[in-house]
Amino acid sequence: MEENRPILRGVSETLLIPLAARALMTRRDPENFVDPLSAKFLQMLGEESSRFESDRWNMAGACARTTILDREVRKALQGAQPTVVVNLGAGLCSRYWRLGTPAGVRWIDVDLPDVIEIKRQLIRACQADMGISQAGWSSIPADVTGTAWLEEIARTADERVLVIAEGLLMYLPELEVKGLLDRLVTNYPGGRMYLETWSPLVSCVWGYLSRRIRKTGTRVRWGLRRPTTLTNWNSKIHVLNSWSPGDINPQEWGLLRFTPRLRRSLMKIIELQFAT
Ligand SMILES: C[S@@+](CC[C@H](N)C(=O)[O-])C[C@H]1O[C@@H](n2cnc3c(N)ncnc32)[C@H](O)[C@@H]1O
Repeated sequence: MEENRPILRGVSETLLIPLAARALMTRRDPENFVDPLSAKFLQMLGEESSRFESDRWNMAGACARTTILDREVRKALQGAQPTVVVNLGAGLCSRYWRLGTPAGVRWIDVDLPDVIEIKRQLIRACQADMGISQAGWSSIPADVTGTAWLEEIARTADERVLVIAEGLLMYLPELEVKGLLDRLVTNYPGGRMYLETWSPLVSCVWGYLSRRIRKTGTRVRWGLRRPTTLTNWNSKIHVLNSWSPGDINPQEWGLLRFTPRLRRSLMKIIELQFAT
């Protein structure tokens, strides 16, 4: 793999940021965060987590959201109900393996075709030497702003749906975010969703201030002031919970450790329920 390193471009390249954050967490806090797959993926792409260490705010944000989402998704998957997890803009997310996802859960990663191609290659290569199983995991190469991928996800009447959108929606125009949420509500009545949002301020400036994001040539397009805006968009959306990644490990946020209110307002993980 090293000689034929896959090339990621544009918005796909942004997946390196959370991937490196997870590799860093694995190195720094091996008792509480075990994700050898992220470290391996990063290495196979010819990158080193130490090169991301100075990117303090991207690392703090990605680590904090990972902590919240791991905790909440793990909780949501407890119990015996058959579940389909639809992980949108999944990148090289390894949550399916990291959480030791229970039998009875089908996990589907959706991302752009170039990313899914690379992910399948990496997983195949890791299957033998790391002993990982793909039993409940599958992937769909698609643009989430289209509709075809929804038709590919068949499910039985007793399967509930849990959608994750981590590090994705801020890269889409607001109209696309609205359209996507409407389609999820229509297709998955009773479904639940965890999404990451950035404040309008962060969305306005971070694409320019973050060297890592600027380098990808990607624009950050969408920001959300209040979770209740989502309910105003579609009355079948109920907001169940909202967490601030800024509350996690304040000491990791550089100067922002002195401004708790600002830190909390920067980004949110929101839990939604779609009405039946
Ligand atoms: C910052 S990365 C986040 C990856 C992953 N969720 C994680 O946290 O590790 C953003 C991901 O969204 C994907 N993405 C962006 N726009 C997309 C679209 N329109 N359709 C599908 N995937 C998209 C990118 O390819 C990339 O993998």
